[in-house]
Amino acid sequence: MKCLVTGAGGQLASSLVDRASPSIQIDAMGIDQLDITNAVEVDAAVDHIRPDVILNAAAWTDVDGAESDESLAMAVNRDGPAYLAEACARHGSRLIHVSTDFVFDGSGTTPCRIDDPTSPLTVYGKSKLAGEQAIQERLGAEAVIVRTAWLYAAHGQNFVRTMLKVMSERDHIKVVADQRGTPTSSTSLADAMWQLLDCGATGLYHWTDAGEATWHEFAVAIHEEACSHDLLDHDVEIQAITSDQWPTAAHRPHYSVLDISRSEEILGRSPRSWRQELVDVIRSLAATEVQGPAK
Ligand SMILES: NC(=O)c1ccc[n+]([C@@H]2O[C@H](COP(=O)([O-])OP(=O)(O)OC[C@H]3O[C@@H](n4cnc5c(N)ncnc54)[C@H](OP(=O)(O)O)[C@@H]3O)[C@@H](O)[C@H]2O)c1
Repeated sequence: MKCLVTGAGGQLASSLVDRASPSIQIDAMGIDQLDITNAVEVDAAVDHIRPDVILNAAAWTDVDGAESDESLAMAVNRDGPAYLAEACARHGSRLIHVSTDFVFDGSGTTPCRIDDPTSPLTVYGKSKLAGEQAIQERLGAEAVIVRTAWLYAAHGQNFVRTMLKVMSERDHIKVVADQRGTPTSSTSLADAMWQLLDCGATGLYHWTDAGEATWHEFAVAIHEEACSHDLLDHDVEIQAITSDQWPTAAHRPHYSVLDISRSEEILGRSPRSWRQELVDVIRSLAATEVQGPAK
């Protein structure tokens, strides 16, 4: 099976490449080789590779930056997926695309179900929802769209690496404690995506690791695991604050835990807890960054 992975170099794309079965032939293309906002480039890449499947891991993920650059967010998160879907329709390729918990407004108190009404608060969320719709308009239910949340990896830009860096430099930090979601390892998401492909899934899915946390609880866990794996060697006071005390350009949802039961049903398994996945990522950072804390 030939697969084209877009957004190479990003967290998820790297995990998709790492976790692919050896029988899969992968072309992983970064923005330098394939800019998904360029329809001509998309067509040329797909004509050349003739993939059985496109896994779209390319996205504009700067949630705050999107607030002041809506046209770029829409170009990458709506138009790019539309071009990929058109190319898939022409070639008869399958498309697996990734979306976000930020399509919900976070006003609920129970996990967001697949068919719950969407109502994004942010430009990023709006652009990702527009991407879902653009794909569904072109490929119907044939495309696989996986919404996920709070993604992190041992590489790339993410909350875990940011926290490790900040904690290595300070003994007091403030972290928001009134936003609740599910930290999700990009390895866990990549495994779920390959499995969804394997079992011929179609339509919309949610996938996160198991459980839920606030950013503050996540930060406390990162500190505990980093200390027990010798990535940090000092106490850090982690002060719980409200979103109002940490103003950001984008207004994030307060509760965006996803109901993943449809994925559990089709995959016949449940994810590991976010804390177990975090331990694995911290362990791998500890193994690779023996000289000191995360840079
Ligand atoms: N990160 C999260 O917390 C989170 C949460 C929920 C859902 N998601 C979704 O999960 C998916 C994977 O996210 P991720 O965390 O792996 O993102 P990431 O690490 O930011 O990777 C995205 C990649 O896409 C590339 N890219 C940007 N514009 C592009 C373009 N026009 N053409 C081709 N590539 C382009 C980026 O390149 P540059 O780095 O050079 O810009 C980057 O390598 C995305 O769909 C995202 O929306 C992420």
